Amino acid sequence: MNENFDRIFLTEDQIQAKVKEAAKWLDERFAGKQPLAVSVLKGSVMFFCDLVRAMHTPVQLDFMTISSYGSSTQSSGVPKIVMDLAASVEGRDVILIEDIVDSGHTLYKLRDLLVGRGAKSFTVVTLLDKPSRRKVDIKADYSCFEVGDEFIVGYGLDYDQQYRDLPYIAILKREVYEK
Ligand code: IMP
Ligand code: MG
Repeated sequence: MNENFDRIFLTEDQIQAKVKEAAKWLDERFAGKQPLAVSVLKGSVMFFCDLVRAMHTPVQLDFMTISSYGSSTQSSGVPKIVMDLAASVEGRDVILIEDIVDSGHTLYKLRDLLVGRGAKSFTVVTLLDKPSRRKVDIKADYSCFEVGDEFIVGYGLDYDQQYRDLPYIAILKREVYEK
């Protein structure tokens, strides 16, 4: 294990088992529909790819890059759209796929934006939820795992653009980011 990690939080097997459950939940909810799955980059990339492949319902894919970090572990509270969606969401059943809901600022902004653009429905699936850190009152419709007030990396999640490529999720040592 990397010396910057405290411990493994979720193994690859634990993650993949939950991905299957989330896919089943989505399949039940969207049977007979043609939803648009939106990946919030870069953090959700791994979860997004695994989730849409585990689903049986045919989905279209689109991508949006959001950047919210002022410093390395504290959300600035003003998420910026770095890259917008390619397609219109008007009249579409949108499934927004997030890595983690922390302060909630990002999700709040994205809901406002996509519902404002005329999405027919807006469903949020997140891999991780940090409810203890919420600043705005918002919740995902489906959350795979809850995490405490700790900084985690891997499976899409980064610290300073590192560790996104890991197939598992680890807790970063506090001394790494509390300097
Ligand atoms: P927000 O504070 O809910 O707006 O979360 C914004 C973004 O911060 C998330 O989508 C993640 O990309 C990132 N983030 C929040 N907590 C963590 C963490 O523990 N590790 C890595 N990224 C995180
Ligand atoms: Mg994110």
